[in-house]
Amino acid sequence: MSPSTPIVTLGEGSTPLLRADRLSERFGVEVWLKWEGANPTGSFKDRGMAVAVAKAVEDGAPGIVCASTGNTAASAAAYAARAGVEAVIVHAAAGPTGAKLAQARATGARLIEVQGSFDDAFTGAEQLADREGYVVVNSTNPNRLEGQKTAAFEIVEELGEAPDLLALPYGGGGNTTAYAKGFLEAGHGTPQLLPVEAEHRAATIASAIRIPTPVHRDQVEQALARCGGSVVSVTDTEILAGWRLLAREEGLFCEPAAAASIAGLGRGAAGNGTQVVCVLTGHGLKDPDALDLPLEQS
Ligand code: F0G
Repeated sequence: MSPSTPIVTLGEGSTPLLRADRLSERFGVEVWLKWEGANPTGSFKDRGMAVAVAKAVEDGAPGIVCASTGNTAASAAAYAARAGVEAVIVHAAAGPTGAKLAQARATGARLIEVQGSFDDAFTGAEQLADREGYVVVNSTNPNRLEGQKTAAFEIVEELGEAPDLLALPYGGGGNTTAYAKGFLEAGHGTPQLLPVEAEHRAATIASAIRIPTPVHRDQVEQALARCGGSVVSVTDTEILAGWRLLAREEGLFCEPAAAASIAGLGRGAAGNGTQVVCVLTGHGLKDPDALDLPLEQS
């Protein structure tokens, strides 16, 4: 940010960090939930989008473009509208939920559907950016990660130091990278990292993390090398079980992808008594149809 960077905000960040007593008892650890569904468009993406869109406007870009499984789309569309620039969303045909597409459509964003996976949508977004001079606001845009790392600052501020473990869903890996950067910069210790990915990445019911190839894989490996921890892969059944547990025992309705962090805990990845922060990345209203899925998956 510089003195000439415009402020583009919808009131993102400063989300609740909630102690979860029942989950703590169940898992034998001290569980805290970072409730990112409380952001303006209902996901953590707003933190980085505020910065990325502001920088795009400062640079005189005619518009922004992203590939998305839905949340980046909703966020990009909202912040582009707020800033008065065009937004183009490229998504896989069987990608985002209807609710997320509705969020983007409401703002007048241009939606382009591609036959293929998220990876194909990402290639499409990059080509469109080259052709039209639009700024890509995927997490490959470093301004996104600068905004997202603020969640780590908030956790350190509230707990007084970094927790022992940070569990979060692992899609492309931008958020894992951003948290590691934030904790390292905050200077009050680093948590071990538990990035939780879907075992069947390309076909998981958790549509937000339905990403065949994580673009930040190398950075996630570097973050693990610096902070400790390891990636775990969980089944859709475990994700849905974590998701229900969270709603029933703590009253928090997140989207299935967000519950991957709880599924990670279910694997016993945290030692007894440790302090764990689970990042709940998106709101349950973004994927209400998931409620009707049978609990047994894959
Ligand atoms: N949780 C939610 C709710 C997400 O929407 C995403 C990513 C992730 C976790 C994974 O974060 O990619 O930084 O590892 N959603 C992107 C999107 C891909 O287009 O909305 P990551």
